Amino acid sequence: ELQRSAMKKVLLALTTLTLLATSAEARTWAEIKKSGTIKVATEGAFPPFNLMKGKQLTGFEVDLANALGKQLGLKVEWTVQPFDSLLIGLNQDRYDFVIASHGITPERQKAVDFSDPHYCTGGAIVTRPGGPLTAKALAGKSVAVQVGTTYLENVRKVPGVGDVKTFPRDVDAQAALMAGRVDAWVGDRFTGLDLVKAQKGKIVQGDLLFRERNAMAVKKGNVTLLKELNAALAKAQANGTYARISNQYFGQDVRCR
Ligand code: ARG
Repeated sequence: ELQRSAMKKVLLALTTLTLLATSAEARTWAEIKKSGTIKVATEGAFPPFNLMKGKQLTGFEVDLANALGKQLGLKVEWTVQPFDSLLIGLNQDRYDFVIASHGITPERQKAVDFSDPHYCTGGAIVTRPGGPLTAKALAGKSVAVQVGTTYLENVRKVPGVGDVKTFPRDVDAQAALMAGRVDAWVGDRFTGLDLVKAQKGKIVQGDLLFRERNAMAVKKGNVTLLKELNAALAKAQANGTYARISNQYFGQDVRCR
């Protein structure tokens, strides 16, 4: 019996040590710089911001982060994973920062630190011709949104809104609208514009439900990295790099003003 309890104590100590060892601190700027590689995560399913083209990760945010990495003299190593697990992975130190169109919200600010916004946008109501185009018109209507997003949070606040259906990926929420399984989809206004264009008359964009400033996220308290990211973004915005990438994807400069 005595031996058993001693064994238990040893096991407990080992578990504690393992936990401590795996909950390492986020890498500081000095550590990242020394390693020569910065680790970035995104979803890879949110066109035109981050998406897979075959095996190639691309999009506005991917090109932008690659440009920032280049400016900082670092190799960029990408991780692609589901949207709703990106900030969790950040807090587990699985990568240095996340760029995945996160709107800056008070709720998220409790969990992570945000950079200066890398673009400004809004959540738009998108529907089929004859469908709801305003917040008021959403009363009693079914709406598709991606889970874990500001779209979900804001659609829930619409007075009298009907069924709110959540999807793991934004593209699946769009598909539900196109298949006629919901009355509207709420998503990014630029994504909506692309959808309207691609669907030629079968989809229309209504009002903005809300506006948001979207930013990169670092682990809470990683001030040294945050400072470098903000400086790199400011530099890209000043030297034409940002404008070139933005124009390529949107035909306009999407920075916050
Ligand atoms: N901007 C919205 C938000 O902050 C949606 C972001 C979705 N991003 C993505 N990679 N699917 O929640």
